[in-house]
Amino acid sequence: MLRNVVNISVYRKVILKDGRVIILKRMNQEDYKKGMNYEYVHNWLAQVSKYLLYDFQEEDMDWDKQQFLTSLNNAENIILGGIYNEKIIAHAKLNVNILSPREKHVGYWAVMIHPKFQNNGLGTHLLNCIEIIAKKIGLKRLEAEFIEENSSAKALYLRKLGYTIEGRKKRAFKLPNGTYVDKAVIGKIL
Ligand SMILES: CC(C)(COP(=O)(O)OP(=O)(O)OC[C@H]1O[C@@H](n2cnc3c(N)ncnc32)[C@H](O)[C@@H]1OP(=O)(O)O)[C@@H](O)C(=O)NCCC(=O)NCCS
Repeated sequence: MLRNVVNISVYRKVILKDGRVIILKRMNQEDYKKGMNYEYVHNWLAQVSKYLLYDFQEEDMDWDKQQFLTSLNNAENIILGGIYNEKIIAHAKLNVNILSPREKHVGYWAVMIHPKFQNNGLGTHLLNCIEIIAKKIGLKRLEAEFIEENSSAKALYLRKLGYTIEGRKKRAFKLPNGTYVDKAVIGKIL
């Protein structure tokens, strides 16, 4: 399992509904050290952070960059990027607790897309790719969490990809406006 997660490589082209061609690839530290690539990603993440765990504020940039680059080298993570015109415009992360014999069949994922590339089918392509990888490395279950008022996420995960809501964590998430909302736990058996 460890070798599978570390060694798996991904490189494919997908076409969005509006015709733009995006390269999906497994990312490494060098991809973010080139040019201002990490900084570019951090800036658009700040624009889509309402339903994410972090704000990606400018003053946190150096700390966030260090944490993120470290996470790329963590054997538990597979991070996919979506590339358009040499810019990283999307991320999907798959995390597996590879050291646990009780849980190493479960993959946890998260996905985030640049505002100008949303609602164009990219989320569908990225999560289909995550599912293909999950099957290749022998996972039996995929899991994620989301906020139900996030309408495009809800449509993508439940209607388009067939995940089901398995439970709700009460008031587990605080929106930027200070309101506490539930997190829905979704899963899919592979
Ligand atoms: C949520 C997110 C990943 C979805 O990715 P995406 O590329 O926009 O998703 P897709 O285009 O593949 O699919 C979205 C679907 O939602 C539908 N949709 C969008 N807004 C909707 C709304 N208000 N109500 C119902 N359906 C909606 C779209 O029509 C599309 O379905 P279709 O292809 O059948 O037309 C992306 O919008 C994003 O990164 N958002 C910001 C960060 C975030 O919230 N991440 C998720 C945290 S859990």
